[in-house]
Amino acid sequence: MLKKAVGPLPAIVVVLAAAVPLAAQAPDGRGRAEPARSTRGGAGAGNQYTVYDDATLQRGKALFTAQCGFCHGANAKGGEGGPDLLRAVPVLDDENGNLIGPIVLNGRPERGMPKFSLTREQISDITAFLHEGIRAAAQRATYPLRDIVTGNAAAGRAYFNGTGKCSTCHSVTGDLRGIGGKYDPVTLQGKFLMPRGGGRGPFNPAETGGNPVTVTVTLPGGKVFEGKLQRIDDFDVALTDAAGEYHSFPRKGDVPAVVVHDPLQAHFDLLRKYSDADMHNLTAYLVTLK
Ligand code: HEC
Ligand code: HEC
Repeated sequence: MLKKAVGPLPAIVVVLAAAVPLAAQAPDGRGRAEPARSTRGGAGAGNQYTVYDDATLQRGKALFTAQCGFCHGANAKGGEGGPDLLRAVPVLDDENGNLIGPIVLNGRPERGMPKFSLTREQISDITAFLHEGIRAAAQRATYPLRDIVTGNAAAGRAYFNGTGKCSTCHSVTGDLRGIGGKYDPVTLQGKFLMPRGGGRGPFNPAETGGNPVTVTVTLPGGKVFEGKLQRIDDFDVALTDAAGEYHSFPRKGDVPAVVVHDPLQAHFDLLRKYSDADMHNLTAYLVTLK
């Protein structure tokens, strides 16, 4: 039992660190401390974990998978470039997004954490998802993302060729051939939710492979620069033109005019359209493409 004493955090961190891998190895959980009734756990309600309704958790999970999963891992336990959030102090101590919110909205750009424009409700859903992950890890409950392949493959194929219009850009016998054997289901779902994975955010030119994001910059005098986007934020935009020359421009509001062309725009647009069932069905279908 953990003491409700000064500085309980290190103890929790150690217990959770031990509990997470053990949960995978020893389902009977023999010989493990039970950290469930900790004074932390992000529940925001003293010693109790908050119970969230399914709809909230599903929304949180979808948002997290799409927006955060590539850096922090699909199950938030750390991934490429992002730390384990189930053991992060601001997550453990958060109450209704009060600590996670500012981090997500402002980012820590200098340290690899981009900023996001999410609503208060969306942040609160993500927070619920993270807290549920902490509770699940602590209480040895089944992890919410374990059974990701719950959809219907036939419905997924219909969506792929129909509503989703995936087949207008992709072919299951061409570019997506064998994709189900290439990635595990969680990664695969992440790939179509946010194909520019690897987690460097939307505008890292190194991540865009053969499909670079391009930009058109029109100066007040009418002069136009076009090329591969190198960098963009509220204050600057930079590109490399067809001749390989680098140009960078300070931005002030709408001046100069900047238009970004993203070959993955269709994917970002789809994010707002998928129902949960669509997502699961698509994953179930893509998994069969071996
Ligand atoms: C492009 C990669 C990337 C994405 C995408 C990303 N993060 Fe992060 N995040 C990071 C990095 C790197 C850090 C560590 C920053 C630091 O060292 O201060 C971090 C830190 C955090 C922290 C603070 C952890 C701590 O211990 O202080 C929280 C909370 C967090 N991220 C939440 C999120 C959420 C929620 C999302 C999705 C809306 C998200 N992140 C998306 C890279 C990312
Ligand atoms: C308007 C065109 C377009 C549409 C529509 C589209 N995609 Fe994509 N998709 C792309 C591009 C471009 C990429 C990036 C390919 C690359 O960089 O190799 C991509 C990447 C992917 C990847 C990652 C492939 C890999 O090997 O990593 C998957 C999976 C994927 N799309 C699935 C889908 C699904 C499922 C749909 C429909 C719900 C869809 N796409 C709709 C253009 C599109």
